[in-house]
Amino acid sequence: MAPDTAPDKALAGRTAVVTGASSGIGRAIAEAIGGAGAHVVLGGRTQEAMEESMARIKAAGGTAQSHVHDVRTVAEARALVDSAVKSTGRLDVMVNNAGVSYPEPIVDGDPEHWRIMLETNILALLVGSQAAVHAMRACGAEGHIVNISSVASLNPASGVYGATKHAVNCINESLRRELFDDPIKVVTIMPGAIATSFARNFDPAVLELMVSSMGGDTAPAQFTPGGRLSDEALEHAQQTMSEHLCTPEDVAEAVLWAITRPAGVHLASLVVRPKKDLTL
Ligand SMILES: NC(=O)c1ccc[n+]([C@@H]2O[C@H](COP(=O)([O-])OP(=O)(O)OC[C@H]3O[C@@H](n4cnc5c(N)ncnc54)[C@H](OP(=O)(O)O)[C@@H]3O)[C@@H](O)[C@H]2O)c1
Repeated sequence: MAPDTAPDKALAGRTAVVTGASSGIGRAIAEAIGGAGAHVVLGGRTQEAMEESMARIKAAGGTAQSHVHDVRTVAEARALVDSAVKSTGRLDVMVNNAGVSYPEPIVDGDPEHWRIMLETNILALLVGSQAAVHAMRACGAEGHIVNISSVASLNPASGVYGATKHAVNCINESLRRELFDDPIKVVTIMPGAIATSFARNFDPAVLELMVSSMGGDTAPAQFTPGGRLSDEALEHAQQTMSEHLCTPEDVAEAVLWAITRPAGVHLASLVVRPKKDLTL
């Protein structure tokens, strides 16, 4: 593994893959890891957003490439890791972050929404983790697999979305034990409410109620179901509801910290949440 060159370039010489890097938490993680010197491979569905992130990483002296794909397809999830290995010959950090939520009661929920959550939040994370282990073993990396869970995984009654995050925690702990004899660490990050486009599939009326109960307003947020919110609207939301919402950068800093601990220290799980809880 390449030696650290400077404290702010702790990941120089490493290669990192981040899924869901076109928005929110994944975008912030990709930019933080790129800023720390790693070559970052951003995976997502929205090329324009990834180009903006790559430009910021390059302006900070880093290198990056993007890969448009659908993580719900096994071959496409694997192809993201392959593209990183093809470009740099190695993989050191894998962040399985892409995730979706359709908050519906089980009794009236749509099985197609369950399928999307199961395939995005669980299947893609499993495929990405497996591909990463193979790639890290092949290059002898002291690797990190960072899987994004949620505080919903700490709530026994958090619906189908929460069930996918309970599964993530179980997968991570199982993987951590499977890798006892490998120099690969598995990190579980459990964010609380973070100002991102995560609520894109929420019922706008329910969302409005949630926001007003936290003292915020939805005026700047033009919600199109399934659509992403503008950075300005998200910034406004975070600033007006700062006790209830953290920033994606708060999560990215925790990830960066977790993957830059000394070899003998394993940060197995971290909760990053605002001061006041919000049930998602
Ligand atoms: N925000 C929160 O409050 C919160 C709290 C706890 C946990 N989390 C977790 O944090 C992670 C990131 O969410 P976020 O808050 O950053 O939400 P977000 O802004 O909606 O970002 C989700 C990312 O996942 C990508 N994605 C979704 N489905 C995909 C697919 N089929 N193929 C490829 N990429 C796909 C999206 O790509 P496009 O935008 O290009 O479509 C986007 O980059 C998720 O795992 C979520 O469960 C979020």
